[in-house]
Amino acid sequence: MTVPVVLITGGAAGIGLAIARRAVNRGAAVWLWDRDERALEAARAGLGASARTQVVDVSDEAALAEAEAALAGRPPTHLVNNAGILGRPMPLDAMEAIEIARVLAVNVSGTLLATSAFLRARLPHPGAAILNMSSIAGTNGGSPGHALYGATKAALLALTQAMARDLAPAVRVNALAPGIIDTDIQKAVFADRQALHATAAGIPLGRVGTPDEVAEAAEWLLFAAPYVTGETIRVGGGRK
Ligand SMILES: NC(=O)c1ccc[n+]([C@@H]2O[C@H](COP(=O)([O-])OP(=O)(O)OC[C@H]3O[C@@H](n4cnc5c(N)ncnc54)[C@H](O)[C@@H]3O)[C@@H](O)[C@H]2O)c1
Repeated sequence: MTVPVVLITGGAAGIGLAIARRAVNRGAAVWLWDRDERALEAARAGLGASARTQVVDVSDEAALAEAEAALAGRPPTHLVNNAGILGRPMPLDAMEAIEIARVLAVNVSGTLLATSAFLRARLPHPGAAILNMSSIAGTNGGSPGHALYGATKAALLALTQAMARDLAPAVRVNALAPGIIDTDIQKAVFADRQALHATAAGIPLGRVGTPDEVAEAAEWLLFAAPYVTGETIRVGGGRK
């Protein structure tokens, strides 16, 4: 069987990089798409020859077209739509159109456009799968001041349903909904490490999660689970 090639958006850090490590450890190759060039270089150095990288902002259609062309050298078989941003906190009575457009462009348009690029470039594979990175915010609404983020993550849940239906039986499509995971994205929500870990009191398993704990579930949905499509799994230590 062809060796899987996993395209991971936002793959240079955090949860995306943890998924890349697991994919490479099980013998797959990876394409990392990220807007952060330095982080991409560090990720490639850590992952070795199995990893190829491309600087691309998933909200930039022209950059995506270039990145798609580069995939021809090693066509992907699997996709992880992981790139996402929290956006600035905005109270409901102070919404700003530019910030709304920016967050929608990365979290929702970026997922749609990266999926299109993947579908055009992909090499069919018997285990082909797409994974969308939603959040528990997609069902609980998210942290105060971050209604927009929650709404974008809810959009990914609907997209997962639509994509699973439209791409069956060729490609399975599932989503993960992480809870509070210890990555850079949380720096904007919690003032410091103490504040981050203080929230552990409200998590049934009593601690925040690690990127690798999300990657473990991602690995199952991507490479096993042959009869699972259109599903969302929470990885939140029991937090809903
Ligand atoms: N950390 C959490 O608690 C948590 C919880 C639920 C969901 N998530 C989701 O998981 C995903 C990964 O988040 P993370 O916690 O690893 O964050 P992170 O900030 O550590 O990593 C995100 C990566 O995406 C890249 N990125 C951001 N915008 C991009 C763009 N426009 N184009 C290309 N790359 C871009 C960043 O450069 C970074 O490398 C996000 O979609 C996030 O919403 C995270």
